[in-house]
Amino acid sequence: MKQTQWWKKSVVYQIYPRSFCDSNGDGIGDLKGIISKLDYLKTLGVDVLWLCPIYQSPNDDNGYDISDYQVIMKEFGTMDDFDELLAQSHTRGLRIVMDLVVNHSSDEHRWFVESRQSKDNPYRDYYIWQESKADGSLPNNWGSWFSGPAWEYDSTTDSYYLHIFSRKQPDLNWDNPRLRDEIFTMMRWWLDKGIDGFRMDVINLISKTEGLPDGPIVNGSGDLSPLVCNGPHVHDYLKEMNAKVLSHYDIMTVGETPNVDVETAHLYTDEDRHELNMVFQFEHMGIDMGPYGKWTDRRFALKDLKEVLSKWQTGMVSSGWNSLYWNNHDQPRVISRFGCDSKQWREKSGKMLATLLHMMKGTPYIYQGEEIGMTNVAFDKLEDYRDIEILNAYHDLVTTRHLLSHEEMMRGIHSKGRDNARTPMQWNDQPQAGFTTGTPWIKVNPNYVDINAKKALANTHSIFYYYQKLIALRKSYDIIIDGDYQLLLPDDEHLFVYKRCLDKQELLVICNFTDQPQTVCLNEEMENSILLISNDEPTAFSKEMTLRPYEARVYYQKAK
Ligand code: NOJ
Repeated sequence: MKQTQWWKKSVVYQIYPRSFCDSNGDGIGDLKGIISKLDYLKTLGVDVLWLCPIYQSPNDDNGYDISDYQVIMKEFGTMDDFDELLAQSHTRGLRIVMDLVVNHSSDEHRWFVESRQSKDNPYRDYYIWQESKADGSLPNNWGSWFSGPAWEYDSTTDSYYLHIFSRKQPDLNWDNPRLRDEIFTMMRWWLDKGIDGFRMDVINLISKTEGLPDGPIVNGSGDLSPLVCNGPHVHDYLKEMNAKVLSHYDIMTVGETPNVDVETAHLYTDEDRHELNMVFQFEHMGIDMGPYGKWTDRRFALKDLKEVLSKWQTGMVSSGWNSLYWNNHDQPRVISRFGCDSKQWREKSGKMLATLLHMMKGTPYIYQGEEIGMTNVAFDKLEDYRDIEILNAYHDLVTTRHLLSHEEMMRGIHSKGRDNARTPMQWNDQPQAGFTTGTPWIKVNPNYVDINAKKALANTHSIFYYYQKLIALRKSYDIIIDGDYQLLLPDDEHLFVYKRCLDKQELLVICNFTDQPQTVCLNEEMENSILLISNDEPTAFSKEMTLRPYEARVYYQKAK
């Protein structure tokens, strides 16, 4: 069956269930909590809900370490709750996309429990085992993405297993056809239930370079990225998955693909190649890294953001499709990162950033809380953080290797740590932001008294209704979905300006990234245009215009 392309017209809303809404007071969000908010999501106008992992898990990495792919995590509810969520979503015309985490499992998955028993166990080759080198050292120099070596010793068989993430997330061996078939069977089981697609966790890591050679040394350990990302058989495995599973359903797929460039993204998403519909690229998330990666607190330069986003806009034209995102559960809040989270500019800069992204070509993703302008959090104490990546990195960079001071690392955590995205959704100004009646698993951001959904819903000028309008515009104007993209004023350091064109229609998007007025001179013939949306006083187009601080305007014109 040919896949239809409803996903090109859709807007996706990402839910991190642990932090979304708790229905039973145990401090952990759950499926019933999500059901209770479906009308809220419908009001926003999104089409698809992507649920971060809801499967059984010991929660070493909040559900990205799965111990049974066909059982719901106890804290989140039951399979009946899931069926109810699916049915209730479908009744409202909302589709459900599940997180598929199959580069690795939990070490508590029965496959791994078997695999570590003995070298001749039938499940041994479901994972990647190696002996130490002749001199007794580790199989290679790879460092885990969650700090420390990527190899863990297991005394039962006197060998090491590979884990790109935590030691409780052993990598699955996709070179084993039996493993692939088990995964495909599991995927069909979910699809037969009626789910509408998969977001595939680090899916471009599933094929490792043969021989597992050492990687180049970066910050003291071997960088495995070039040896595990986009590896030798990844396209074969995805094509097989597509032929055996995906192509039989009317679904959407999005691959999470770190270290992917435009050329490689084509290989994953070109329709004629029958792999995935779209991928998440990370280049715009890399523009504010420093010597210690994300932990170096560094502000981005607008020219870099323009260059990267424009490259993807113009690069994915001949084939493939873009995903558009500012936020997810691994990234800091965009207002704090690329806008301004002061009282004065929070909403305004949030609307400006939303305009920039939602007028681009691709499928937009909104991360929970983005639609009410949630911001980063700055807990004083390390003990208030929960994320394994933060805690491991602190231990490695501050305690063990003394590369960063406590203060430097806390600045990095405050600006880029993943828990910025994981504090509970702020529903109202009641205790715990209305997220739970109990004690939340991670503290709420103290700014919930000001920033919450109840307040946003009560104010027609709120950022919530601005997102609602942007989503509605996408559904009314084909040019937003199909128009060509052209960057204007590439060297301007304050304004991000671009144009979309489709037949005789034109769309002009102008965004001021500063807290100062900025004047723009344009050669465009847009005198007959209407102002489609803006986050300030309506102002007609003229060739020379001054944009107010953080102002965004979109002009639309049918014919010259
Ligand atoms: C990417 C996920 O988005 C992240 O949250 C997780 O820690 C890693 N993959 C490992 O599954």
